[in-house]
Amino acid sequence: MNDVRAHLTVYGCQMNRLDAELVAERLRRSGARIVADSAAANVLLFLTCSVRAHAEDRLFSNIGALGARKRREPDLVIGVLGCTAQQYGEDLRRKAPLVDVVCGPGRLADLPALLERARRGQPAAALDPRRTPAGAGGFDASDRALDDLELGRPLGGPSPGHAYVTVMRGCDNFCAYCVVPQVRGPERSRPPSVVLAEVCGLGDAGARRVTLLGQAVNKYEAEENGRRWDLADLLAATAEMPGLARLEFITNHPRHVTERLAAVFRDVPAVAPYLHMPAQAGSDAVLARMKRGYTAREYEGRVAMIRQARPDVAVASDFIVGFPGETEADFDATCDMVRRLRFSGAFVFKYSPRPGTYAAAHYEDDVPAREKRRRNQVLLDLVQGIALEDNRALVGKTVPAFVEGPSPHPHLDVDAEEPARGEDFPRGPYGPRRRAEGNSGVVQLRARTPHNRIVVFDGPADLAGCIVPVRIVRASALTLFGERVTAG
Ligand code: 5AD
Ligand code: SF4
Repeated sequence: MNDVRAHLTVYGCQMNRLDAELVAERLRRSGARIVADSAAANVLLFLTCSVRAHAEDRLFSNIGALGARKRREPDLVIGVLGCTAQQYGEDLRRKAPLVDVVCGPGRLADLPALLERARRGQPAAALDPRRTPAGAGGFDASDRALDDLELGRPLGGPSPGHAYVTVMRGCDNFCAYCVVPQVRGPERSRPPSVVLAEVCGLGDAGARRVTLLGQAVNKYEAEENGRRWDLADLLAATAEMPGLARLEFITNHPRHVTERLAAVFRDVPAVAPYLHMPAQAGSDAVLARMKRGYTAREYEGRVAMIRQARPDVAVASDFIVGFPGETEADFDATCDMVRRLRFSGAFVFKYSPRPGTYAAAHYEDDVPAREKRRRNQVLLDLVQGIALEDNRALVGKTVPAFVEGPSPHPHLDVDAEEPARGEDFPRGPYGPRRRAEGNSGVVQLRARTPHNRIVVFDGPADLAGCIVPVRIVRASALTLFGERVTAG
């Protein structure tokens, strides 16, 4: 594609960030350039999550603000990609008439053709098939195209030396509040040979940390050459990758956490002692209305099973507050669960009804906004109070820290909720860099402990992608502050 200068803004989860890598790869293959400065672009792409209303609201207000620019630059192409595109489909252009291209998450490989059409003045859309009760049909060709992009992309990753790898696409759980099963389609596990080929390629390219991704990654199930694979098998095989120092997998559904998975924490050293397993609520009545398929007791049983296999596993959760019908007593049950289980961290979200979900159709959104905000704050304070105690206990200890790069918010605690603003892709040069006095090339680095806690310390920027020992000297609820330990 001649003279395409595309700028990509990403809102959302890890899966969206991996999709951004696939978009970049697809555009590169078609000869387009990706530019970091949106003012220099003639194609503006937004890859947006639709799980909560917030990202979507930001998207529509950002697109609305492009009216003047589009009048000045009539050839400017605006595209919406990913879950929100799939959610609205062709209606998106009625809601946001400035949009030229609409592309669902399974159809990213079609993007160049869509852009060509838009540049000829015709609006263009490519969407995944609508889900039918009949099942998973209609995704094979687009899955192969996504596999091809994922396998061929360079090691770009969320940070140097760290790669995301899809192991499952879609979701069949239909939690009452969630749009994912509609927008990402039915559950499909990628064949183990494809996943492992990708992991090997990433290892050759220098990856030292790999995160396997799926909406309910621990439901992974595949059969190849007469052998059945679950996530425990896949983790054990992935851990064989030469040079792999840290292996993670997100996100886990409590119902499908098994003894076999627990054993992996004990037996496979490369697997990080970190389990993201959203509880969503601690009240059985709310869990039942959410259609989560477990009780609070069962959830706690899964945590106990994991901690029995490996006592130091950090368990992190997501919670939704203000779900329809959530009473004060229900909310108290959630707080009690947090106090009992001492999560290493948790994302807390205010319920927002999403079109097409069971909850939006059947339950009244009856917890007032003010009360949702209050519960959100109470729960966050509780989670952070526990994290602060646990972080303080680490002061004086030395931990292996995987360096992600210069700290984007030097000396500031990172926001507990996911960033609501869009991120430019590719990210970098990384945000503001603080120089430690008189030490040229030394910046504040951000790293992750094996338990996925954030640790910042001063060191040379070229440590990104390395694992270095760091002694913890101070702690806040969300951040550990450390010093690099150097030999001698
Ligand atoms: N409202 C609020 N939070 C939601 N989540 C998913 N759907 C909704 C919704 N409709 C949260 C869940 C999930 C996380 C990714 O987003 O906690 O685990
Ligand atoms: Fe949504 Fe539930 Fe699937 Fe997670 S498991 S993506 S919350 S439907």
